[in-house]
Amino acid sequence: MDLTQLKQPCNVVYSFSLRYHGFMLVLGIETSCDETAVAIVKDGTKIVSNLVYSQVAIHRPYGGVVPEIASRKHIETILPLLEQALHQKNIKLSEIDVIAVTQGPGLVGALLVGICIAKAIAFALNKPLVAINHLEAHLMAIFLEQKPLFPFIGLVVSGGHTNLYLAKDFLEIKQLGQTLDDAAGEAFDKVAHMLGLPYPGGISIEKLAKEGSPNIKFPRPLLNKNNYHFSFSGLKTAVANYLRHHPSFCKADVAASFQQAVVDTLVTKAVQAVKDHLLPRLVVAGGVAANQCLRKKLLAISQKEDIKVYFPSPALCTDNAAMVAALGYHHFKAHNIADFDFDAISRYPVCPFHQKKS
Ligand code: KG4
Ligand code: ZN
Repeated sequence: MDLTQLKQPCNVVYSFSLRYHGFMLVLGIETSCDETAVAIVKDGTKIVSNLVYSQVAIHRPYGGVVPEIASRKHIETILPLLEQALHQKNIKLSEIDVIAVTQGPGLVGALLVGICIAKAIAFALNKPLVAINHLEAHLMAIFLEQKPLFPFIGLVVSGGHTNLYLAKDFLEIKQLGQTLDDAAGEAFDKVAHMLGLPYPGGISIEKLAKEGSPNIKFPRPLLNKNNYHFSFSGLKTAVANYLRHHPSFCKADVAASFQQAVVDTLVTKAVQAVKDHLLPRLVVAGGVAANQCLRKKLLAISQKEDIKVYFPSPALCTDNAAMVAALGYHHFKAHNIADFDFDAISRYPVCPFHQKKS
């Protein structure tokens, strides 16, 4: 196969120079939210370099991510980070074979920083460029550490999304359900804010919950509905009402009870999808997948129900560029080469459930 002559969707023959050295180095670039990340991954599975500059401390005083600040910080950070990733491993930019960048979903201004850098490198060095869906990359991060068999059910739980998928292959990923309002991570962040805990809320709530008991009955939304959708906005309101009506509330008990309600909801829906599809494999990814309470509950169920559950290690659950490079490798192999005029996508098209309602 002549990899230097790949066809783009617009039928323009795109030629680029590929070295032949028996393996493939993919440069991943991720700037969808408040983490600037650059990684180099060999053959889609081996991390050569994986650097993340977290802006968490910058956004903490605001209680959440400020898009304008995030974009400006990405601009300042991305090139030094890229230089560090290359220098650390003594790799020249010209030795990179493919550039993979997050196209969306995310904050448009933030995404554009990564996309511009990726396009500039690909153009200047005549290298192929691939555009990656951030949520699909989260799901495929697991292949940097383990080898689950396809097909599997995937649960991506992050600050902006809570989605269930049926993954048949790296490039054949069907969305089964999504949150109808707040994402699970967003609910963690908002409830943490109500409790006066620092951003990002997931880690703060998890830490405090260890000192409390889940003795408050908060709702488990949509559990009795026969679909794979989630809703966390009502749960968040239930916590706000509880705090209003119980002025002497125990913070740790509220944290533990809220966390338990989110975990029960995620686990019930994910296990339902596994059973309905007769697939004994579940991959859990995204920032909330770092939560130990969620991991413990899923592992306990997996032993009882004979389901194999896969979690990336916590550093590969939260935003990183290694996952972008890993999926980028498979897109490149499938000739999914991006045009130079592709744009950032803040949200991918809504699922049919939403379309019917609006
Ligand atoms: O995937 P991610 O790093 O960024 C997005 O794509 O959104 O996820 C960030 C989200 C935040 O809402 C954060 O509060 C949550 O993941 N998170 C956690 C934990 N660590 C991060 N939620 C619960 N428990 C954790 N240990
Ligand atoms: Zn993410």
